[in-house]
Amino acid sequence: MEKVYAAFRSIGAYVPQKILTNADFEKMVDTSDEWIVKRTGIKKRHIAADDESTSDMAAKAAKIAIERAGLSVEDIDLVVMATVTPDYFNMPSTACLVSDKLGIKNVQAFDLSAACSGFVYALTVAKAFIESGMKKNVLVIGAEKFSSIVDYTDRTTSILFGDGAGAAVISATTNRDEAFVDIHASADGSYWDFLITPSPGSVNPASHTAIDEGLQFVKMKGNETFKLAVKTLTKDVKEILKNNNIEAGEIPHFVPHQANYRIIKAVGDSLGMREDQVVLTVHKYGNTSAASIPMAINDIYEEGRLQSGELMLLDTFGGGLTWASALIPFAPNK
Ligand SMILES: CC(C)(COP(=O)(O)OP(=O)(O)OC[C@H]1O[C@@H](n2cnc3c(N)ncnc32)[C@H](O)[C@@H]1OP(=O)(O)O)[C@@H](O)C(=O)NCCC(=O)NCCS
Repeated sequence: MEKVYAAFRSIGAYVPQKILTNADFEKMVDTSDEWIVKRTGIKKRHIAADDESTSDMAAKAAKIAIERAGLSVEDIDLVVMATVTPDYFNMPSTACLVSDKLGIKNVQAFDLSAACSGFVYALTVAKAFIESGMKKNVLVIGAEKFSSIVDYTDRTTSILFGDGAGAAVISATTNRDEAFVDIHASADGSYWDFLITPSPGSVNPASHTAIDEGLQFVKMKGNETFKLAVKTLTKDVKEILKNNNIEAGEIPHFVPHQANYRIIKAVGDSLGMREDQVVLTVHKYGNTSAASIPMAINDIYEEGRLQSGELMLLDTFGGGLTWASALIPFAPNK
């Protein structure tokens, strides 16, 4: 039997309308546009409407990705949804809600929790299902309504995050040139408390006390996370390039997780990347967690910068702690 590979067929994204600028934050907490831009590179972020859920945004991004793949919803045979801001804690899965909104029926659908690394983690799942022959067209989504777990009185976290969704269709191919070149994901649970939403969960079930203590909001050891992110991302990306005998200078599109411009710059510089190789969206979207990489890929696609056959180097890091990187050619249906 001919060997089957996974191909990255299409991308789509959805960005909510409402914008929170740094000037808005100056009115909400003790901060300044100058501090935020200097320390993070972020100028604004998009925030979902009150009645707009993670699955609403995900379904919009997914619809575009399916259309751009030249497929219909009947062709999708697996939905993998990366999010840490599901519509409901913890049932039903947001993947089931997205499937329902899109009219995808009787198809395996589940959520995957790997925080900011979620989208690349989900790509590893898509690849494995396709290469094993179990599935043919996998809808992979990264979507977050991070504003639903952000404490807007906490200046150390609130300025960082935004909402949005991105989606891709990964399909089976027998053409080796279209195949994922490499992908891997990893984790170190000993850093579990670097990024955490303490409640609700089995440790701190929903309670008045938990709410009074603000345990439903994201907590982050920012500085420690920053240092580990730079170290881990740099090591990870150097390894994947070395393992595949690819020089950093050959990569047309380095798409790092968009958490902080300083992290991206440090990793890019250590690889000797030119500015035109590095995809940057953190200034306009902030950190959208699992949505950040597909939203960034969608940006270069819509700007006409992502051409068929061009290699993308993905690199991400997030709560867990988790990290992942991938070398994937863009392989749209011709
Ligand atoms: C959060 C982050 C921007 C903070 O930058 P930093 O250079 O590490 O700053 P520190 O946390 O050391 O704080 C420095 C000072 O700025 C203050 N500060 C924090 N947020 C501030 C804000 N929004 N405005 C003004 N001052 C702020 C701190 O209170 C601290 O003051 P102090 O020295 O009086 O105690 C940075 O640590 C970061 O980006 N971390 C990683 C985030 C990340 O990637 N998270 C997700 C991983 S997916």
